[in-house]
Amino acid sequence: MCGIVGYVGHRQAVPVLLEGLHRLEYRGYDSAGLALPYRGKLRVRKTQGRVKDLRDKGDTATLPGNVGIAHTRWATHGEPSDANAHPHTDTSSRIAVVHNGIVENAEQLRSELTALGVQLVSDTDTEAIAHLIAAELDATDSLEAAVRTALHRVQGTYGLLVLDARRPDELVVARNGSPIVLGVGDGEMFIASDVAALVHHTQRVVFLDDGEIATLRADGFRTSTLGAEPEQTDKVPTTIDMAAEDYALGGYPDFMRKEIAEQSEAVRRALRGRLDDRFATARLGGLNMDARELRGISKVVFLGCGSAYYAGQLGAQLVEELARIPATAEPASEFRYRNPVVDPDALYVAISQSGETLDTLAAVQELQRKGGRVIGAVNAVGSAIARQCGAGVFLHAGPEISVASTKALTNMTVSFTMLALLLGRVRDLSAADGQRIVDGLRAVPDAIDQLIGDEAAIAEIAQRYAKARSMFFIGRVRAWPVAREGAQKLKEVSYVHAEAYQASELKHGPLALIDPEMPSVVIVPDDELLAKNINTIEQIKARGGPVIAVTNADLPDSIADDVIRVPKVAPELDPMLLTIPLQLLAYHCALALGRDVDKPRNLAKSVTVE
Ligand code: F6R
Repeated sequence: MCGIVGYVGHRQAVPVLLEGLHRLEYRGYDSAGLALPYRGKLRVRKTQGRVKDLRDKGDTATLPGNVGIAHTRWATHGEPSDANAHPHTDTSSRIAVVHNGIVENAEQLRSELTALGVQLVSDTDTEAIAHLIAAELDATDSLEAAVRTALHRVQGTYGLLVLDARRPDELVVARNGSPIVLGVGDGEMFIASDVAALVHHTQRVVFLDDGEIATLRADGFRTSTLGAEPEQTDKVPTTIDMAAEDYALGGYPDFMRKEIAEQSEAVRRALRGRLDDRFATARLGGLNMDARELRGISKVVFLGCGSAYYAGQLGAQLVEELARIPATAEPASEFRYRNPVVDPDALYVAISQSGETLDTLAAVQELQRKGGRVIGAVNAVGSAIARQCGAGVFLHAGPEISVASTKALTNMTVSFTMLALLLGRVRDLSAADGQRIVDGLRAVPDAIDQLIGDEAAIAEIAQRYAKARSMFFIGRVRAWPVAREGAQKLKEVSYVHAEAYQASELKHGPLALIDPEMPSVVIVPDDELLAKNINTIEQIKARGGPVIAVTNADLPDSIADDVIRVPKVAPELDPMLLTIPLQLLAYHCALALGRDVDKPRNLAKSVTVE
């Protein structure tokens, strides 16, 4: 949510900043801007719109200078506009700031500044910070000291990058609740809110911690705490295992399509070294729990937001089925606000692709404060949730750029299957059933490739239904989270209204909506509820509703208007595979409607605000 880029070194800064912004655009894309120092003043260029609009605006692309800061925005305070775009500056055009996060006492700070005669030119919370820092520079000649003192007045979250036009050889950056990573180059330093903007330049990085501030010059950096009595934190760079190609399209038309196609490889990576044929179980060393502790777990609670929550629902089903331990899933965004009863014997699983979702992070902190045991199921190594949890299962899906999550969700389900298998095998799951799951997991990547091989047929179906005003996604028990995820994906990327419903509940009201204009996507796993699901299809057809059946059962084509067929691996794993055609359906509906699939309107990857 919003992207920050900064550079200080020997190159021209603008191309580095624009390229970095371009790579972070998936995090926010309603406006963009940059600032460079010039003869003791600032040159600021910003615009509503995309990074390419900024690049094409006036002289932006040719501004000279070896230091600069830049931002791509997802609006929180103030509508998307040129004035509200970052960077924001003080009245004398000396201090420029770019900011991710939310200043909670912004109104109070803005009123105080106005009372002092400061003319605010934007509706943002960020502008106040620029004025506060400039005021502090009357009392100190250290930019870092001025930023530190100014931030003591700011309540809320921030990843903040500051440029002082009178010190054109340094930048100051601070973090509280919104990620900041430093990239260490050879005689140059990079700053970003996400490693995606850095990997083209360096793989040596430093993740700032909450409550840390850093000063960067071309030849290095120093970090310290943000408190009134600062202490050096002496951070040492680590090498990240990510290459520039991981962030490139590699011949695909967009990242969503690329990430759907990458799923078989992503699953193979998640399984590597984690399946144990000797004991028909899984090895998840990152849990840091021995067999006795695993046996002592009284229940498992999965917490995540949006699609990660639906993946958690699948996880809860897997744990109940394989381990017979009570398990539930709950949106982390609700959990954190409802004063939850925390069971010290329960295992809480915080699920997040980005590892930065504020609601999920807050749920983890609330759990830990109450003595709950919480592990992470996180994709982004080094992210806030991964570090806050300290133990867990990394998803190993690789970087996910498209706003709509696909491969990370599949790897969440894969990881939960391994967790459920491990919990089951220290309890009563037989070795034969354990081995059936191990074999099923191994068969998943090929099954995914087979499914993606059928893309043309799914695209053809999508083109026929894309103009529907609304669609139902129907599933029950194992297929219920699948239906929810299918509806979510369609809404998100195509803007077609979609509603997920449990097949069993349809007749209690929503059946009234069925007519020839309302298509239903019915998820039909080949399980003990097959006959009931066929009955549901009949009820919809009897009311004239078009039906797309997504099934791995051996049903005739005549069962529905369209049938999307899915390979079988094991009943417990089928929901994972049944989800993949729904990704393709949403993707091709979006394309048919001319949507920007990677950057759906109003959304951003990783929601780091409330
Ligand atoms: C849907 C989607 C979102 C995320 C949710 C959680 O395609 O991407 O619903 O699943 O915002 O994000 P993470 O997993 O990063 O915590």
